[in-house]
Amino acid sequence: MRLDKYLSDMNVGTRKELKTKIRKGVVTVDGARITDPGFSVKGDESVTFEGQPIHYHTFEYYMLNKPAGVITATEDKRQQTVIDLLGKDRRKDLFPVGRLDKNTVGLLLITNDGDLNHRLLSPKKHVDKKYYAKIDGCVTEADVDAFAKGLRIDEELTALPATLEILTFRDEATASDKEDLLTSEHPESTLSSGVTEICVTIREGKFHQIKRMFHAVGKEVFYLKRLSMGRLVLDPALAEGSWRPLTEEEIRMLNT
Ligand code: URA
Repeated sequence: MRLDKYLSDMNVGTRKELKTKIRKGVVTVDGARITDPGFSVKGDESVTFEGQPIHYHTFEYYMLNKPAGVITATEDKRQQTVIDLLGKDRRKDLFPVGRLDKNTVGLLLITNDGDLNHRLLSPKKHVDKKYYAKIDGCVTEADVDAFAKGLRIDEELTALPATLEILTFRDEATASDKEDLLTSEHPESTLSSGVTEICVTIREGKFHQIKRMFHAVGKEVFYLKRLSMGRLVLDPALAEGSWRPLTEEEIRMLNT
């Protein structure tokens, strides 16, 4: 790869700025001063920029606790995207792995590793995705059985068997339920038949899958949070809208 790309991938500057700086002689490769921005490097050389060593890493991995109101896309003219949340100094080839709806919160993996993206999303791999949700109404054992059997959602989609776990039911919605309802797709709903908190684990990731599964049993999801994807679990210390690089251990877990 070109020396200016090596440095811009590592966020040292834009390609344009780097071309000028490299020509000024601020870069060394294996001890030799290089002034050609197109100088070819493999990635394993010892590179310095203004005296600082710059190590190349091919892949980057971030865990984001996605907030509501942000879309899962790399760029958009009008709406804030999950990639915007990483700030301006981010590497330019990052993308989100899979998609969460605008009002869904929780675990989102962001990377530039296309193979990992494929492994985690391939329908054949059946990577478990666990969600916590609040449901308008009373979720029953009959719903648990229906999810376990594999729900027929519509003409096109029969969901694979999913594990539904009922956590609690309350007759009266709390203030926090009402607040969550405001960011949902049905803010005008009254939650008059009570609220059920559930966890559900699915092995595929079709468009609006969980909302459609509950629809198929006559219920609405009004709060949805992804807790885990495969063995990667949302860090409870990460506030909504915050992100951090994955640890070495987490990267290893994703690859096994
Ligand atoms: N299922 C949904 O309905 N929405 C999401 O964002 C994720 C899973």
